[in-house]
Amino acid sequence: MPMGWRLFFLFLFEAVAPSLECNQLDRDSLLRSLPSPPGWNLSSPSCCLWDGVACNPDNRITRLSLPGRGLSGSLTPFLANLTFLSHLNLSSNRLSGPLPSLINNLHLHTLDLSSNRFNGSLAGLASTATTSMNVSNNSFTGPLPSSICTTSPLLTILDFSFNQFSGVVPQQYQRCSHLQVFRAGFNSLSGHLPHHLYTLTTLKEISLPNNAFSGPINATISLLTNLTVLELHDNQLTGPIPPLISSLSSLQQLQLHTNNLTGPLPPSLTHCSNLTTLLLRNNHLHGDISLVDFSKLQNLQALDLGNNTFSGQIPSTFCLCRSLTALRLAYNRLVGELPPCMASLKNLAHLSLSDNSLSGVVGALKILRHCDKLQVLFLSRCFNDEPMPDDDDLVHLQGFQNLQILTLGGCSLKGQIPWWISKLRKLKVLNLSYNQISGPIPTWLGDMPSLFVLNLTKNTLSGGLPRELGRLPALITDNSSSDLSSLALPFLFDSQQYNRLFNLPRGLKVGYNSLSGEIPAEIGQLKLLHLLDLNNNHFNGSIPAQLSGLVNLERLDMSENRLTGEIPQSLTKLHFLSYFSVAGNDLEGEIPRGGQFETFPSASFQRNRGLCGYILGRNCSSLVTMSRQEEYDSGNQWYGVPFGMGYFVGFFAVSISLLFQCKRPL
Ligand SMILES: *[C@@H]1O[C@H](CO)[C@@H](O)[C@H](O)[C@H]1NC(C)=O
Ligand SMILES: *[C@@H]1O[C@H](CO)[C@@H](O)[C@H](O)[C@H]1NC(C)=O
Ligand SMILES: *[C@@H]1O[C@H](CO)[C@@H](O)[C@H](O)[C@H]1NC(C)=O
Ligand SMILES: *[C@@H]1O[C@H](CO)[C@@H](O)[C@H](O)[C@H]1NC(C)=O
Ligand SMILES: *[C@@H]1O[C@H](CO)[C@@H](O)[C@H](O)[C@H]1NC(C)=O
Ligand SMILES: *[C@@H]1O[C@H](CO)[C@@H](O)[C@H](O)[C@H]1NC(C)=O
Ligand SMILES: *[C@@H]1O[C@H](CO)[C@@H](O)[C@H](O)[C@H]1NC(C)=O
Ligand SMILES: *[C@@H]1O[C@H](CO)[C@@H](O)[C@H](O)[C@H]1NC(C)=O
Ligand SMILES: *[C@@H]1O[C@H](CO)[C@@H](O)[C@H](O)[C@H]1NC(C)=O
Ligand SMILES: *[C@@H]1O[C@H](CO)[C@@H](O)[C@H](O)[C@H]1NC(C)=O
Ligand SMILES: *[C@@H]1O[C@H](CO)[C@@H](O)[C@H](O)[C@H]1NC(C)=O
Ligand SMILES: *[C@@H]1O[C@H](CO)[C@@H](O)[C@H](O)[C@H]1NC(C)=O
Repeated sequence: MPMGWRLFFLFLFEAVAPSLECNQLDRDSLLRSLPSPPGWNLSSPSCCLWDGVACNPDNRITRLSLPGRGLSGSLTPFLANLTFLSHLNLSSNRLSGPLPSLINNLHLHTLDLSSNRFNGSLAGLASTATTSMNVSNNSFTGPLPSSICTTSPLLTILDFSFNQFSGVVPQQYQRCSHLQVFRAGFNSLSGHLPHHLYTLTTLKEISLPNNAFSGPINATISLLTNLTVLELHDNQLTGPIPPLISSLSSLQQLQLHTNNLTGPLPPSLTHCSNLTTLLLRNNHLHGDISLVDFSKLQNLQALDLGNNTFSGQIPSTFCLCRSLTALRLAYNRLVGELPPCMASLKNLAHLSLSDNSLSGVVGALKILRHCDKLQVLFLSRCFNDEPMPDDDDLVHLQGFQNLQILTLGGCSLKGQIPWWISKLRKLKVLNLSYNQISGPIPTWLGDMPSLFVLNLTKNTLSGGLPRELGRLPALITDNSSSDLSSLALPFLFDSQQYNRLFNLPRGLKVGYNSLSGEIPAEIGQLKLLHLLDLNNNHFNGSIPAQLSGLVNLERLDMSENRLTGEIPQSLTKLHFLSYFSVAGNDLEGEIPRGGQFETFPSASFQRNRGLCGYILGRNCSSLVTMSRQEEYDSGNQWYGVPFGMGYFVGFFAVSISLLFQCKRPL
């Protein structure tokens, strides 16, 4: 731009910029309305130039936008003196206390008080904002303000989510005839869903998850043809999904999971061809899903039908859902084989078929290896009593190069741990527990570059524990490899499940097999290991003192083996150890004292004839000479824990852990 023009524009800009003096009343009110001014230059003559402040041509303050400025304390009634204010954004501060009642005197267009610590009731709130009101993520209590739609019928956005509002959605809200977004999730609202709002055809979003709404979904919701988001999950809704829901042709997100919905998946639902997210898990839906034609859902990215009682075969119409990224059908009653066309799901990253009654694990893997983006594959308790897919089945395996989690537990698979698994260079989690896998633990497992959870619990593996496992890179140095957050897809799980699956503790679990030989000292190099289960095998020899190198270990179970010698004193250096058991071995000598060993119950040490120490109430110096009765009579102060009690505690702990193993979803 030539210099002359540039000067001209500068001049023009100067001319329309507000003049410098701001209204004195506004200036005073502004300074007194906030608990503390957010670093404004108070010697600057115009408050209109202060950060976050804007004025009209008469120098009256019209906008105050101070999100995320670290403001704390309460707002004062002086705020209501800013009579020209139309836009107030105080989002993401630490403002607290109740809203001054004078806020009703403001005539705002937009009010954003989200993500603060305001509390008290909004029941008396009247005409504050005319277009958009966001009070989400505070600590408001009591009923939703019932008169806002009477005084401000032009409201388009109402966000009450993440508070502690209770009661019902006020009838009066149907007067908000321009309402587009209504959010009130994560509160304690109850009663029926607000079907009186289903005449507000302007609505684009209804989001009411995590409340206590009950009763059915009224079919009149089908009037809301502009609705793109409908989130009603985590309530107590009953009855069927109304087939008329198919009229919601703009719908992109339908989340009805974790309710008490019954009946079939309405076949007409697939007319909602703009659906990207369809989450229906944790309901009581049933019926043959192979009768539903999914092929119209070309935009579908996430489909979760898990934990219902759907039956039938996996429909091949899934194969035409080309956008599908995450598919979860776990915990249903599906039968048959995986349709071969699923090889064409090139975007599929996450597939969970666990807890069904499918057949043909070899065929399934041959198909799925073509899904190049697959990162997570849950196939536990899904097949039954088949041969483990071996190298002859999957020769020249080139697939699964992005696979990070593979679970094939509880399928009673027979055979050996196959070599093709060694080619899965990104594999972080391998669960082959509860099968009938025999033969040795292959030494190449120790060279898998990303592996940090290996679960071989309850098989019939034999031979030794390979010392090569002691060099697993992701358990020695690579802390970052255990980050599964890139697999996030949190929408497929509730937060509890999510934490369980994606914050997996780094662990080696080989319990309940027929492994023998000594525990290799090299295992002690796995300093990032959190869990080590070697229990219920035939390990012999002594416990390597080098296990003290497992500085992050939280759980060490060596119970029910044939270990001999003493418990190394060095294990008292394991500061995070909260579970330890060597029960049922041939150990001897004094139980170490100090560190976490002060906290373990006697059950951790029982059934070792030669162990002594205060925990067992067995005095070491007198072990050889005294009988139990004599020892008791000697008045040993440590004898406080009766044997019977200790055994009971031990039995109880074992029962609980067994329960846990079987219940845990994969
Ligand atoms: C504050 O404003 C005064 C008056 O406009 C100006 O002289 C001074 O430099 C400003 N201070 C800062 C730190 O900007
Ligand atoms: C400003 O607000 C205060 C406190 O609400 C009130 O006492 C005062 O009368 C108001 N001043 C004006 C000029 O409106
Ligand atoms: C308030 O400010 C935040 C942060 O800039 C912004 O994300 C939000 O959209 C604003 N609220 C409104 C209603 O404009
Ligand atoms: C309300 O504010 C929160 C937090 O700032 C934001 O996440 C949310 O999207 C806003 N609601 C609407 C409807 O814009
Ligand atoms: C609620 O606000 C807090 C603090 O500002 C923030 O850390 C958190 O992410 C917000 N939560 C939601 C759901 O917006
Ligand atoms: C609001 O929070 C303050 C502390 O910030 C507390 O003293 C007051 O009792 C709370 N009021 C209500 C109604 O919960
Ligand atoms: C469904 O909503 C309509 C319109 O609000 C209402 O008249 C009807 O009683 C509702 N039906 C049920 C079963 O709640
Ligand atoms: C529905 O959405 C379309 C497109 O955004 C809009 O033109 C129409 O006015 C909306 N209908 C209603 C009732 O708001
Ligand atoms: C949900 O369904 C279960 C089993 O059908 C039933 O026991 C439970 O009471 C129902 N809960 C509600 C809130 O309707
Ligand atoms: C579906 O989405 C496309 C692309 O966003 C849009 O053009 C179309 O109007 C939508 N269909 C309906 C029925 O809303
Ligand atoms: C299945 O859903 C029910 C509620 O319908 C819930 O109690 C149960 O924990 C869920 N099971 C799994 C494995 O998610
Ligand atoms: C490994 O198997 C055990 C059964 O011993 C189970 O409890 C645990 O959840 C499994 N861990 C993983 C990461 O799959």
